[in-house]
Amino acid sequence: MASENGNAPYIRCKSVVKAYTVGDHEIVALRGVDFTMRRGEMVAIVGPSGAGKSSLLNLLGGLDMPTAGRVLVGGTNLAELKGRALAAYRLRRVGFVWQQVGRNLLEHRSALSNVTLPMMLAAEGFRSRRHRARELLEAVGMGEHAHKRPPQLSGGQQQRVAIAVALANHPDLLLADEPTGALDRESAAQVMELIAELRARYGLTILMVTHDMAMAAYADRTLTLRDGALGQDLTHVTDEAPPQLDAEGRIRLPALVRAQLEEAARIAVEIRPEGVLLRPEQEQADETDAILHDMLGGAERPRRRRWRLWRGRGAHR
Ligand SMILES: Nc1ncnc2c1ncn2[C@@H]1O[C@H](COP(=O)(O)OP(=O)(O)O)[C@@H](O)[C@H]1O
Ligand SMILES: [Mg+2]
Repeated sequence: MASENGNAPYIRCKSVVKAYTVGDHEIVALRGVDFTMRRGEMVAIVGPSGAGKSSLLNLLGGLDMPTAGRVLVGGTNLAELKGRALAAYRLRRVGFVWQQVGRNLLEHRSALSNVTLPMMLAAEGFRSRRHRARELLEAVGMGEHAHKRPPQLSGGQQQRVAIAVALANHPDLLLADEPTGALDRESAAQVMELIAELRARYGLTILMVTHDMAMAAYADRTLTLRDGALGQDLTHVTDEAPPQLDAEGRIRLPALVRAQLEEAARIAVEIRPEGVLLRPEQEQADETDAILHDMLGGAERPRRRRWRLWRGRGAHR
């Protein structure tokens, strides 16, 4: 196993391809993804449903292996890890937080016991696990609720406990797949504040998937993933002054956002549960419905308002 060199990036994905075989055909979820992250960096990945975001996180977490290409974390090529070494990687070197609040925690166990469980699997002694679990629950602001079970906690509180669980075995890397996706805006912002604080406190490297640019603003860099390929780095979008809506309802979009929409003859404007979406118009109304349906957890389809703006090319000048 290679050791980490001082100047080498902490994470390196090289030409990563992930294909799933379903019946007799293949779904290519990642088509040659290249990117690196420095130790201690926080990167957000934004992209539509089906873009391959979770597939990428699963590869970095050692939960799945790439079809082609290489995934290196801290100098270790994950494809070379087998059996116990792979299990140890998952248990000690990475922590996961998932969107589905219920997937993060065992609901018949207390918050404390959820946090001690990964340490038990790592053969940590009883006293040190209790001590560490208490410390982590304090760190995520859940010290008072250590003996409550997940159903007795709010969604935001459960995600706080989930973060404590993810950090139980002192991982260097935190992978978060839409950690605030099931929360209201206020709880989401609180969870992001917490993640930012824990990052500084524990020197974590964080890769987070989100649908939400407001959450991505907590990261050092934002990458876009679409159809299995990384697109433009949106990092500097947030460096510009935030766009203002004028009295006529006009908004001046940041240059990088405009560049994303430039090729489109028409731009669709949709009201979504998380805000207003502008996107280059494609004939994909059904897909959008499916995404919405997916986001709302299979509830009945929401009434959706939809407009199309025809861009008179050059006419506005
Ligand atoms: N286990 C799987 N088996 C088959 N297809 C999958 C599997 N996981 C993901 N996919 C497909 O791969 C593509 C990317 O999925 P995913 O990584 O979950 O995207 P995202 O997280 O961005 O929504 C989608 O077309 C999805 O249907
Ligand atoms: Mg996903």
